[in-house]
Amino acid sequence: MIKVALIGYGYLGKFHAQKAESIDACELSAIVEPNLDIHQTIKENFPQVKIVQQINEVINLIDAALIVTPTSFHFELINKLIKHNIHIFCEKPIVANSDQAVELEQIAKDLDIVIQVGHSERYHNIWSEFKEDLSLLGQNPLHWYAIRAGVFKDRAKDVSVIDDLMIHDLDLVNMFTQSPLKNINTNHFKIRTDNIDHSVTNLSFENNDSATLISSRNFTEERREFWVSGSKGTLYVDLMNKVYRKSLKEYPIENLVNEKKYEPADHLMLEQKDFYNCIIEKSKPKVDLNQGCKIVHWLDQIKNN
Ligand SMILES: NC(=O)c1ccc[n+]([C@@H]2O[C@H](COP(=O)([O-])OP(=O)(O)OC[C@H]3O[C@@H](n4cnc5c(N)ncnc54)[C@H](O)[C@@H]3O)[C@@H](O)[C@H]2O)c1
Repeated sequence: MIKVALIGYGYLGKFHAQKAESIDACELSAIVEPNLDIHQTIKENFPQVKIVQQINEVINLIDAALIVTPTSFHFELINKLIKHNIHIFCEKPIVANSDQAVELEQIAKDLDIVIQVGHSERYHNIWSEFKEDLSLLGQNPLHWYAIRAGVFKDRAKDVSVIDDLMIHDLDLVNMFTQSPLKNINTNHFKIRTDNIDHSVTNLSFENNDSATLISSRNFTEERREFWVSGSKGTLYVDLMNKVYRKSLKEYPIENLVNEKKYEPADHLMLEQKDFYNCIIEKSKPKVDLNQGCKIVHWLDQIKNN
């Protein structure tokens, strides 16, 4: 049984705690939350679990940790956990900037622990079919597109919309292209906060693919769409409504679009289960430290463009 601590019982942390409690491979041993005001609520929800304010109080009792604090605390917490050989699942983005990513990659180079990053959009039930279908689009280059937008929710204001929303689409494009970045061109606005609230980012890659990503937290409705076009057609996913559509050059004029629904998945549950499996089987996670750091480098380049 893997003894795990949840660090940060906020908006997302409470869901991660529920998942951890229901997974057989682990025992939720501790919840670390500095805000004393919510300790009573945590106690009511998790009466068997030790509740503390600082990771130091339980660091010798655990095998693994789930870091679900604001991003500005990730680097310091990871550093501490690494020194105790504790396996780490860390919410995205793994760290706050490129300098921290470089330092962390150096520190963690030869360690024998699992470090997994919570890029949860990888768990949609459509990606393996979508990946196979890419061969229907013809030779590279491919053009990637995403829109991830919503009405203003008055949260995550300490980070930009690039860190909060666009990061998911950057990770998806990276998963499919696996190509280094060549060029970046951006248009950003601050609308409601002191950080970027709206961004249109154009990327080009060394394999000649390109991407146009639109992210906004001051939009008129919720939109989560991801698609790719090539010389032989388009593959499109509506991530909110779980719909996959294809339009290929070979389709007859009377049937231009092929549409199917796909099953929703519990992304947080799947990524946590993967984490414990990686610990047990000593295998590499879907999103490891290097992939997580690569995305942090992209985030910095986009924000500073
Ligand atoms: N994968 C996703 O789709 C997704 C969605 C939302 C948030 N996130 C990520 O999850 C993380 C948390 O986001 P959130 O919206 O839940 O934040 P939040 O502010 O709602 O909650 C964070 C909690 O961490 C606690 N905390 C702060 N410093 C701490 C420390 N040093 N040790 C222990 N606890 C500490 C805070 O008191 C708070 O309760 C962020 O990195 C965010 O980017 C990911």
